[in-house]
Amino acid sequence: MTKNIDLSTTVAGVNLESYIINASGPDCTTYEELQTIARSESAAVMMKSCTVEPREGNPEPRYQRLDFGAIQSMGLPNLGYKEYVKFSAQLRQEYGKPVIASLSGMCKEDNLKMVEAFQESPVDMIEVNFSCPNIVGKPQLGYDFEQTDKVLGEICKINSKPIGVKLPPYFDLCHFDMVAEIMLKHKVGFISCINSIGNTLIIDAETEAPIIKPKGGFGGLSGQYIKPVGLSNVRAFLERLKGQVAIFGVGGIVTGTDAFEYLLAGADAVQIGTTFEKEGAASFSRIAQELQAIMQRKGYSSIAEAKGKLREL
Ligand code: DHB
Repeated sequence: MTKNIDLSTTVAGVNLESYIINASGPDCTTYEELQTIARSESAAVMMKSCTVEPREGNPEPRYQRLDFGAIQSMGLPNLGYKEYVKFSAQLRQEYGKPVIASLSGMCKEDNLKMVEAFQESPVDMIEVNFSCPNIVGKPQLGYDFEQTDKVLGEICKINSKPIGVKLPPYFDLCHFDMVAEIMLKHKVGFISCINSIGNTLIIDAETEAPIIKPKGGFGGLSGQYIKPVGLSNVRAFLERLKGQVAIFGVGGIVTGTDAFEYLLAGADAVQIGTTFEKEGAASFSRIAQELQAIMQRKGYSSIAEAKGKLREL
């Protein structure tokens, strides 16, 4: 019996009934897919990263499951932002759950145009994706700190709804300092860390070829392989954001124990991508139940009680 464990949380002033939502990426592109998420125990409906124009995405095969995660180079297949503005109104009306837009403009002007459109929509939050690794000729904005500062400055000028940033994984402590400073400067509502680890390569020794086609086989690695990187990124930002910016933890959450580890690291909520793709919408309720069980065993009754409580050794 774990009914007394309260998984509700708040991200950038938006109340979420549970600690767990879907991540942008898998199975959140069409209205049918979004309805499946809306009917599930995901506490919000996160939509696929969109662009101004609809996109087919990269050539197939472009997504392959792995034993401990996945590698993908989807290339932002999406229906174009106007569809997601419409979907957000339908979803909000039909299900009443928070809806989050994810934007991945090809340039600053695209991002500004889409932010403006979603400000006028019923979405509850807007996640700008500065970390898609799969577009040829378009570097991940999140690794260019000057541009991140500039683009975010303009986006945040027009905000009224909470703006969040989907960040790439960082590996150097001075980069956490620099990015945290930019997030605080523009008063972003939340960060989501991490995106998949970009430009990794899986080789099939039998075929002597990569296992995905785009970009010579280079793609974003996700799932259990990347959980330690996700945890360190959440922790590093928690220590630098002074409680002023909420944190979604993302990366390799398969079990309730994984979610609990992100909670100890300091995440306000978590997003599930690769596990949702493998297991379907039942993963949200399973992980929630497992999280409640481990919290109960350890004597925690709410998210706030355990958040950020990683112990020193
Ligand atoms: C895609 C991949 C990402 O990791 C991301 O953040 C956005 C889009 C993609 O290839 O579709």
